[in-house]
Amino acid sequence: MSRETFAKRLNSAMSLRHMKQIDVVRAAQKQGLKLGKSHISQYVSGKTVPRVDTLRFLAATLNVNDQWLHGDDVPMERTDSSDVTGQAAQSSVSDEPTVASAASSAPTQTLPTLHTTPSTTIPEGRPMRRFTKSTKLDNVLYDVRGPVVDEAARMEATGTHVLKLNIGNPAPFGFRTPDEVIYDMAHQLPDCEGYSASKGLFSARKAIMQYSQLKNLPNVSIDDIYTGNGVSELINLSMSALLDNGDEVLIPSPDYPLWTACVNLAGGTAVHYLCDEQSEWYPDIDDMRSKITDKTKAIVVINPNNPTGALYPKEVLQQIVDLAREHQLMIFSDEIYDRLVMDGLQHTSIASLAPDLFCVTFSGLSKSHMIAGYRVGWMVLSGNKNVAKDYIEGINMLTNMRICSNVPAQSIVQTALGGHQSVNDYIVPGGRIYEQREYIYNALNSIPGVTAVKPKAAFYIFPKLDVKKFNISDDEQFALDLLHDERILITRGGGFNWHEPDHFRIVYLPRIEVLKDATAKLTDFLSYYRQ
Ligand SMILES: Cc1ncc(COP(=O)(O)O)c(C=O)c1O
Repeated sequence: MSRETFAKRLNSAMSLRHMKQIDVVRAAQKQGLKLGKSHISQYVSGKTVPRVDTLRFLAATLNVNDQWLHGDDVPMERTDSSDVTGQAAQSSVSDEPTVASAASSAPTQTLPTLHTTPSTTIPEGRPMRRFTKSTKLDNVLYDVRGPVVDEAARMEATGTHVLKLNIGNPAPFGFRTPDEVIYDMAHQLPDCEGYSASKGLFSARKAIMQYSQLKNLPNVSIDDIYTGNGVSELINLSMSALLDNGDEVLIPSPDYPLWTACVNLAGGTAVHYLCDEQSEWYPDIDDMRSKITDKTKAIVVINPNNPTGALYPKEVLQQIVDLAREHQLMIFSDEIYDRLVMDGLQHTSIASLAPDLFCVTFSGLSKSHMIAGYRVGWMVLSGNKNVAKDYIEGINMLTNMRICSNVPAQSIVQTALGGHQSVNDYIVPGGRIYEQREYIYNALNSIPGVTAVKPKAAFYIFPKLDVKKFNISDDEQFALDLLHDERILITRGGGFNWHEPDHFRIVYLPRIEVLKDATAKLTDFLSYYRQ
């Protein structure tokens, strides 16, 4: 089925039946179907097409013919024969398997009779074979680069300038990589032509080991350090090596969504614990405790946090350690923003508080050294490695399979981690990140109907919208409306696995003049916006 035709027909059926995306999501919930807002919006924007059971559900919900929705040349009206399998009973979605269960039970996603229509038939008359994406991706979402971003790209392609406050990529906003890093990489490039050892270059891992010592990570040797093509690769690798189907991992809500995506992709279940806006966005320990089951294997901590900018104090980290100890859980700590801490505060690595537990700590140079494009990050195993011998074997296997991470980028880890840290100039009064944080925090809080907790670290702020005032029930619609009206691109809270439509994330990397323009436009937009 053509994505464009499907999207066009879905949009027209939704508009005919006066249904918004959220209404379809609710209808799915009532049927016990696992169909999220992001799925629907991807269908509506023509980004993907649904699986066959989801298509049948949509057709039944919108009271249109399955085949018509599929893009075939038939009337829109639903008839008894609308059911494409010819089994009348299955035209009722309540008889359909859930999307999740279909993922495991349906070996094929083809619609046999649909594929015999003229528009999808190859000349010889044989049904045309279609290639669909893996069902493993059914529960994988990554909205930071999702449908709203696609719409922004479409607008840009037609010549519209869009102000992007959606991606934490320092370089395009004028944050310079330290000269020494560039010089050293250029100098070493001729020596970086071959593969390195799969865990990484000795010099890079030695420097990371010394950095780990400074952060008081216990029981770390050079063999416990793995470089990766960014932290991203290692998040994926560490979850793939760990999870069997159904294993649960506790992940913050809001989160950096790659964690949830990688847990789900590995066959695990991401179980979200709340972070509490009333308490500086710290993890809600009671909620975390209540989510632990006998399937829980690990707790993920993102500190400093993306998207909230929170920095967790020792006492909070200690409570997480106590909980992990009580339930024998592993701790994964994403600390990629650990050098971007403001207000004279100190970052504590949670692993330093847990010498008796097995911890994996992640960091890299994308943010602190403004070289997100070079792709280099690392993970460090620490504490009680005895309990994780088999898991470490799995990690080593996957590390060997990807051969090694980008060698030129590894070659400058030692340079980057030693000596003067230019990032320190950005995070003190007078520095760009500090001053931009001050500006955005004050500006957002002065908009009627918007409140925001002051970030202590990183370069994100996660403001709250008064949903009653603005009548907001769909945060993706909010993001799209803001994009269309003001040409500002933000990321909706739902993109960070936040459960209410009442937040969005701003990346405050642009200079203050640009942020001024953005907040003036946002103020104007919110003065009239009602969803
Ligand atoms: C919390 C967090 N972890 C990991 C990453 C990915 O970093 P890398 O560039 O090292 O892959 C990001 C990127 O934005 C992030 O915000």
